[in-house]
Amino acid sequence: MKVSPTFRSLLASAVFGSIATAQYAPGQWSLVQDGHSGVSALELAIVSETTAMILDKVEHNSLQTDGHIAWAAELDLVTRTVRPLNPTSNTWCGTGSFLSNGTMVSSGGHRVVITGRNGLAAIRLFTPCEDKNCDIIEDDDVRRMASLRWYPSSVRLEDGSALIFG
Ligand SMILES: *[C@@H]1O[C@H](CO)[C@@H](O)[C@H](O)[C@H]1NC(C)=O
Repeated sequence: MKVSPTFRSLLASAVFGSIATAQYAPGQWSLVQDGHSGVSALELAIVSETTAMILDKVEHNSLQTDGHIAWAAELDLVTRTVRPLNPTSNTWCGTGSFLSNGTMVSSGGHRVVITGRNGLAAIRLFTPCEDKNCDIIEDDDVRRMASLRWYPSSVRLEDGSALIFG
């Protein structure tokens, strides 16, 4: 796999190293710091051809949103800009997978540390958009896990749904 220039531009907080590249593909990997993600990339998912979604725990990040620290962000891989996303619960130790329609599902998490709600039963949906008006959709009254889960795992199934287990 060859690394595209946009993908190479990543994050102060994410570390990309050489993972036995010679074994799989020719070419060089390099680590470039070119911008800042605003939140630590505890979890990172490429959610569209041009964007990555970053989730941290509720922590002392530099990015702010709505009068408090942000713990999630969308990184535009082309413009190298970030905008905060707004989960309402703590995503720390959650898991992620994709539905067959491209919507990313983040589930589980941790209790509140600084702000936000307990994320242990949370299910969060994020559908990337081009106009940057989309955000994480999270509503415990509409969808939540049946049990509290710290460090759950999830996997996409053949029918396009996601299995969350822990
Ligand atoms: C994908 O399916 C989920 C669950 O039904 C839904 O909430 C979401 O809006 C859908 N995404 C798209 C892009 O249609």
